[in-house]
Amino acid sequence: MCANYSQLTVRPKGADLKGIKYLAINRAKIVGTGSYLPQNVLLNKDLAELVDTSDDWIFSRTGIRERRTVTDGEALSDLAVNASKNALEMAGISADELDAIIVGTCTPDLPIPSSGCLIQDKLGAKRAFAFDIAAGCTGFIYSLSVAEGFVKSNNFGYILVIGAEVLSKVINWEDRGTCILFADGAGAVVLKKDQEEIGILSTHLHSNGSYWDLLYQPGGGSSKPACRQSIDDGSHYLKMEGNRLFKIAVKALEEVALEAIRHNNITINDLDLWIPHQANIRIIEAVAQRLAFPMEKVFANIHKYGNTSAASIPIALDEANREGRIKKGDLVLLDAFGAGLTWGSVLIRW
Ligand code: UT7
Repeated sequence: MCANYSQLTVRPKGADLKGIKYLAINRAKIVGTGSYLPQNVLLNKDLAELVDTSDDWIFSRTGIRERRTVTDGEALSDLAVNASKNALEMAGISADELDAIIVGTCTPDLPIPSSGCLIQDKLGAKRAFAFDIAAGCTGFIYSLSVAEGFVKSNNFGYILVIGAEVLSKVINWEDRGTCILFADGAGAVVLKKDQEEIGILSTHLHSNGSYWDLLYQPGGGSSKPACRQSIDDGSHYLKMEGNRLFKIAVKALEEVALEAIRHNNITINDLDLWIPHQANIRIIEAVAQRLAFPMEKVFANIHKYGNTSAASIPIALDEANREGRIKKGDLVLLDAFGAGLTWGSVLIRW
């Protein structure tokens, strides 16, 4: 159920003992962040024209004021490419220096091939290999963890890690339980192998498939392929038991934060910034309260963008970085939960 890929590789001081060459500590360091939100802004009052809801209800129950959705013809790879270009620019490298592209998403442009390959083509990242990871809202955390494993164990220089979603295309705009929550966006980071003490300190991943039907898309896959009937009965839309998910999410986010803290022998007070998945501000506040963690050290932008699933953490990370909320040496905790169910964390020394 749990994988931790981040045990330290210890190098005895100056050692080349008995002909054994010791590797220096390899760390995966974030050297660039980027994000991109589509231009189309959807306000709560716009939704109140579609379903029986109100600005008051949505804001008080979720913390969302507005969200972004793609315009016709705009696909996931377009959002991801724009976010990636920003991250590459900050990293000061070109796309053809990338060794790999890993995309956390549940809403790829096409079922086949992966969006990673489409993004590779659009970026011109000719040397890279590319693939997608489907882990619901935890998709970016899973992707970052896998990328960190590559960086530490293989000879990779730069890996582009993306979290992107176009949920507006799989939402039933007549279902007030989901259409008020989910939205579109993309974020990306560039990881670089480094031998400094800073970078990703730990990653922890979890899943519990017995809860798969709390958040899922019944149609369009191999168990219920797209056909006239699947369209007629709305099988291609997301189905969610929001209330049950809410309770599990609070517990999972608390536990995975404590797991990261214990693993790294730190206390909650050592954290400089917590960037949780932007699912619902009440979930974030409930976890902060259980952890006795001050909201001033929590980064939240859900009021502007809604719940962008796998994109929410990399978008928030990029905003926090560009706003100067993260300083060199800061301890930053990322954690998420989502469909699967999946949940996990990444702890970073910035
Ligand atoms: O991103 C990772 C996975 N997803 C999540 O983490 C989502 C977690 N869940 C949530 O964020 C919340 O459960 C929702 C925002 C989806 C719903 O909020 P809630 O406070 O859990 O509402 P509820 O489902 O318990 O419904 C409470 C009431 C019900 O009315 P009654 O039965 O009390 O009369 C609903 O019918 O609110 C009603 N309701 C609404 N009313 C106005 C539900 N949705 C709406 C709505 N507008 N959009």
